[in-house]
Amino acid sequence: MKVDGKEMRPIWFEKGLQTVQVIDQRFLPHQLIIKDLKTVDDTIYAIKEMVVRGAPLIGATGAFGVYIALVQENNKGTDDNYIITQCNRLKDARPTAMNLFWGVDRVLSEALKQGNYENRVKAVLDEALKVIEEEAVNCQKIGEYGMPIIEQISKRKNNAPVNILTHCNAGWLACIEYGTATAPIYTAFDSNIDVHVWVDETRPLNQGSRLTAWELGKHGVNHTIITDNAGGHIMQHNMVDLVIVGTDRTTRAGDVANKIGTYLKALAAKDNNIPFYVALPSSTFDWDITDGIADIPIEERDPDEIRYAQGLVNGKLENVLVPPAQSRAANHAFDVTPARLVTGFITERGVCRATEHDILSLFPEKI
Ligand code: MRU
Repeated sequence: MKVDGKEMRPIWFEKGLQTVQVIDQRFLPHQLIIKDLKTVDDTIYAIKEMVVRGAPLIGATGAFGVYIALVQENNKGTDDNYIITQCNRLKDARPTAMNLFWGVDRVLSEALKQGNYENRVKAVLDEALKVIEEEAVNCQKIGEYGMPIIEQISKRKNNAPVNILTHCNAGWLACIEYGTATAPIYTAFDSNIDVHVWVDETRPLNQGSRLTAWELGKHGVNHTIITDNAGGHIMQHNMVDLVIVGTDRTTRAGDVANKIGTYLKALAAKDNNIPFYVALPSSTFDWDITDGIADIPIEERDPDEIRYAQGLVNGKLENVLVPPAQSRAANHAFDVTPARLVTGFITERGVCRATEHDILSLFPEKI
């Protein structure tokens, strides 16, 4: 996607330097900083500390992490135990998003097919590059399949703005291109459909107000930031036509893990008869589980992310303490929305209802 006229992705392989580079999302929207990932430790740090974040992007970063592990220790590159250990370390960096395990395992299995070091490096780099290109196309398709949902509402409203609420950042920064939840929005906007996006600020790290608002603004999409608690109120007052969110892991039966607060949005949407869609590439499905509440591990992050807020103070990024210094805080990073609250999934293969039967009719190879 374009940032000030320049094509950007949140991760890329810089051929000249033979280095993986990423946008450091901790400093957006105020500073656009690029970071090199040169070692497995750099890569793990980037995933854990959310230099990179968002399910498809951490999948892609994990995929490149396998390449980084090989070139970092070229004398161990053909040692299967070494590469498997590094892959396990990468997969331990964050627990909830399925894409991380998917990305690492996909590239690891290519590595293990090659005995010769040069062949192994080439196979791994090719596969990681394939992952990012495929995920970009998947998001484009999610946009194409999701756009008619917005178009229909626009027609019903005689072209008045379609108000879409989204939570967290499931935009191109979280993916490679277009985003998941934002892809239908960008596609509708680019097709001259009048859209307006309610952006949940998404405490504690403000992925909505920092990242989604920045992305939408750069693309020219009309949007308004709201507090995380405002959704129910604006839904009751007919100010929301549609909710679209992303997901970090979705079970084969349609339970959806996403950023903390998503479940409350789904409840409010149900109570107000507002369609609640989840947009995802197939790399986010966990085909091995059905019960999201029992089986999806929910990350608990550092309570300081709640206790401190980041912002610009006299032109400098600063962290300030908000609550009493001695108060405890608990930072549950995701929640699970049961399938019964989800109107449908928007995937790279089409739109389906949130039932195991309908999901598997799009992905019959997983039956
Ligand atoms: O903690 P984060 O910022 O990695 O959480 C990201 C989300 O919850 C997104 O909504 C999700 O990854 C979907 S991304 C397309």
